[in-house]
Parts: sequence; C-alpha cells; structure tokens
Amino acid sequence: MSDLKQSHDSVLLEIKGHVGWLTLNRPQALNALNASVLDALEAHVCALRATEGLRVVVLTGAGKAFVAGADIKAMADLSPQSAAAFAARGHRVFQALSDLPVPVLAAVNGFCLGGGCELALSCDVIYASDKAKFGQPEVKLGLIPGFGGTQRLARKIGPMAAGALLFSGGMIDAAEAKRLGLCLEVYSPEALIEAVTAKAEEIAAQAPLAVAQAKALLKLGLEAPLATANAFEAQAFGVIFDSQDAKEGVDAFINKRAATFNGR
Ligand code: CAA
Repeated sequence: MSDLKQSHDSVLLEIKGHVGWLTLNRPQALNALNASVLDALEAHVCALRATEGLRVVVLTGAGKAFVAGADIKAMADLSPQSAAAFAARGHRVFQALSDLPVPVLAAVNGFCLGGGCELALSCDVIYASDKAKFGQPEVKLGLIPGFGGTQRLARKIGPMAAGALLFSGGMIDAAEAKRLGLCLEVYSPEALIEAVTAKAEEIAAQAPLAVAQAKALLKLGLEAPLATANAFEAQAFGVIFDSQDAKEGVDAFINKRAATFNGR
C-alpha cells in the first residue's frame, strides 16, 4: 500500500503502509466534537472501509487532548429534537468506526471526556499516555452522555465502575483507567505513539482475514448467547481454513520459516 494523506481539516487521515491514522485536529477546542468533526470522521471512516490493504486503524488527538467531549458551545442552542438528532448522528458515526472490519486502536494522548471517552470506547483497544484523563462529566452540565456512554462504558468496565463515573461526572487518571480496564496500557507521552505504532504493526503482520474474523466474532460474542457465538466460531474456523493465508501460515510453521500473508 502506498502512503497517503487526506484532510478534512478537523480530522486528518494518513495511511502509512497497512495502518490508517486518524487524528482529531481541532486542538484550539481540545478536539471537541461538532457537526463538522463528525462529518469529517464519517467521511474518513467511509474512505478507510474502501481502502484496499488496510489492516489496522489508530485514532488519536492533536494537542493536549484526545477529545474533550461533544462541543458544548455548539450544543448550547439545540432544541430537544436537534439534540436527539445530534446524539443519533454521533451514534451512527461511532458505530461505523466500530464496525470497520479491521482492529481500531485508540491512542489517548490527553483529555478523553464525554463524547471523547465514548469515541475511545468505540475502539477495540485503548492505549493511553500518563497525561490522559478519562471521564463522563455530562452530569456536571445537567446532561447525560449522548454518544453511547451509558451503554459502552458498562460493557467495557462493568456496571458498577461505569455507574461511579457516570453518576459523579468525575475524572480519573490513566493509572486508574488501567486498573478499571478502561485502557490496556499506559505509556509516557513521548512513548505513546511509538508504542501504539508497534502494536499496530504487530497486528498488521498477522493474517488479515483471520484478524478480521477474530474481531467480528469477538463483537458478535458480546451480543449473542454463548452457544450461538460458539457455533459461528466453528463455522468461521472452517471458512478460514480454506484461505491461502491459513495454508501459508501452517506451512510456514511446519517448515520453520516466517509466514507472508496476503489477505486471501
Ligand atoms: N466543547 C467546546 N469547547 C471546549 C470543550 C468542549 N467539550 N472542551 C474544551 N473546550 C474549549 C474551551 O472552551 C477553551 O476554549 P477557549 O480557549 O475559546 O475558551 C479551549 O477548549 C481550551 O479549554 P480550557 O481552557 O477549558 O482548558 P483547560 O485545560 O483549562 O481544561 C478541560 C480542560 C478540563 C477538559 C475543560 O476544557 C473541560 O472541562 N471541558 C469540557 C469537558 C466536558 O464537559 N465534556 C463533556 C461534553 S458533553 C458531551 O460530550 C455529551 C455527549 O456525550 C454527546
């Protein structure tokens, strides 16, 4: 894959090898999510879905924030109907990101609040810098989360810890987020991008169809009864067995050589 840069200004997309990098780029407003950021994010997610050879996506923020939430100033004058529509729009965009067939990694470099925390929760794995601060502060504004926070947070860290964050609106640091399972690893700010790049490249080196299938089954299993999800896994195991990459991977193991996967 050739390297490519695309810009919708408020969100940047850069393809480096097999990895798509999305950077929220409104640092003057701590990358707060307004309609045009959601539009840009959606356009890039759409482009990523159509990008041949894509194997991983990484999402991060420019400046001192990952995302400090939905844009409070832009929301101030919304009618109840347009507030509901704004929330539904956020849900659609985040679901499209989550539904990408490749793993999506969040590199949380700073404030990760409200809609920002909800955005990170839409990713498959969350890594953080030790400068990151997580929280759902909506109750401090007299609001509730509108982009999935009342749902995805509990699914990620359990209803009790989620409730403690949702009811207090409090912020937690990266170490506490790691303790709760809200992020997987914490790095120094200088090391975060290099560490997440290494994680992304490690994933990109594996068999893409197998990785995509593992992601799809993992997500299915969070919604479906165990017996149903296991039945899907057994089916998928048979399908993946027929792939060129499975033959390559098994042959490489038996012949003590490195496998080269082509996504077929
Ligand atoms: N919306 C709009 N603008 C925001 C913003 C937001 N969510 N967060 C920060 N900004 C703006 C600030 O207004 C400020 O702009 P000006 O320079 O024009 O005044 C700029 O970004 C820098 O922010 P601060 O000066 O406040 O930076 P700080 O370091 O002192 O504080 C902070 C950082 C603690 C994150 C603070 O900015 C803050 O509390 N932000 C709001 C966090 C929040 O409540 N998020 C939830 C939003 S509601 C939501 O997300 C609902 C949903 O689920 C859909």
